[in-house]
Amino acid sequence: METIRRSLTLRLRSRRAKELDSIAFNKFKVLIPELAEYNRAGTFKRLRSRAFLNGFHNLDGYYNSLLTDENELSYLRKNLTYIGSHFFRGSVWQRLGEICRDKFATSGEETIRVWSAACSNGKEVYSILATLLDFLPAEKLDILATDYNDFALGQCLEGCYSMRTMDEIPKKYWRYIKTFKAPEPRKVDFSYRYQFRFCDDLRRLIHGRTLNLLSDEYPTGFDLILCRNVIKFFTPDKRIETQHKLAQSLKPDGLLVLSEEEIVANPELMGLMRIDDTCIYRKRV
Ligand SMILES: C[S@@+](CC[C@H](N)C(=O)[O-])C[C@H]1O[C@@H](n2cnc3c(N)ncnc32)[C@H](O)[C@@H]1O
Repeated sequence: METIRRSLTLRLRSRRAKELDSIAFNKFKVLIPELAEYNRAGTFKRLRSRAFLNGFHNLDGYYNSLLTDENELSYLRKNLTYIGSHFFRGSVWQRLGEICRDKFATSGEETIRVWSAACSNGKEVYSILATLLDFLPAEKLDILATDYNDFALGQCLEGCYSMRTMDEIPKKYWRYIKTFKAPEPRKVDFSYRYQFRFCDDLRRLIHGRTLNLLSDEYPTGFDLILCRNVIKFFTPDKRIETQHKLAQSLKPDGLLVLSEEEIVANPELMGLMRIDDTCIYRKRV
């Protein structure tokens, strides 16, 4: 009997906590209006984990702290999604390399313009760069890297990573990197004591700038756009709108690469054709 009563009380308490979180969530949307453009489940998770990290067990307490903590508020504004990334993330790379080789290796274009939208710390940028350098000379490449998070973008342009992540990079590309001892290692582990950096010849090909995919104007004229693992955080309407705008940023016959789980529901409406059953799309000529 006692166990049943305890379990019932716990259930009621957790339901009440959820209701309170839900009320607090609406207040967050007034404080940070752009939250309304992200999907609710993901945003909830993000807010809860941020609240927890700041020592709050409910969203209301965290919300109240934001009213006086400008640093945390501006951090949250730039971190409404998970920002993690990996080198050669996903299963698309081999096929993408083949498609790009067929399309660009013999193309008469003077410059191949590539845009990594929501590039995070740049691991995707160096992955596509190394892939294209397999068959294109560096002088032909012009890479734009954008993210709304300026800290992540800074890491991308710096091109410095922990040794821990080096194994994600195929060995044939290790020729582009140099290892060195970290000036102030955060952890004692070997893989943190050493870092690596992409060589200047690669880094100078990358131009970076902050760009919010939900509110800023998009640059145009790209042969290849990668926009992966970000649209899934948006609301369904914003997902479609973003895919539409990305399609408009491509040159005719240009390629759009999404993540495996972010496929375009109705590509024809956007002037796109899906290549095989991949997450790569070609814009109609
Ligand atoms: C999970 S990471 C994906 C990084 C990389 N594209 C990949 O697939 O590994 C999501 C990135 O989207 C960025 N982001 C979130 N909302 C954004 C927005 N509205 N505009 C631009 N970037 C955004 C985040 O800062 C983060 O760097």
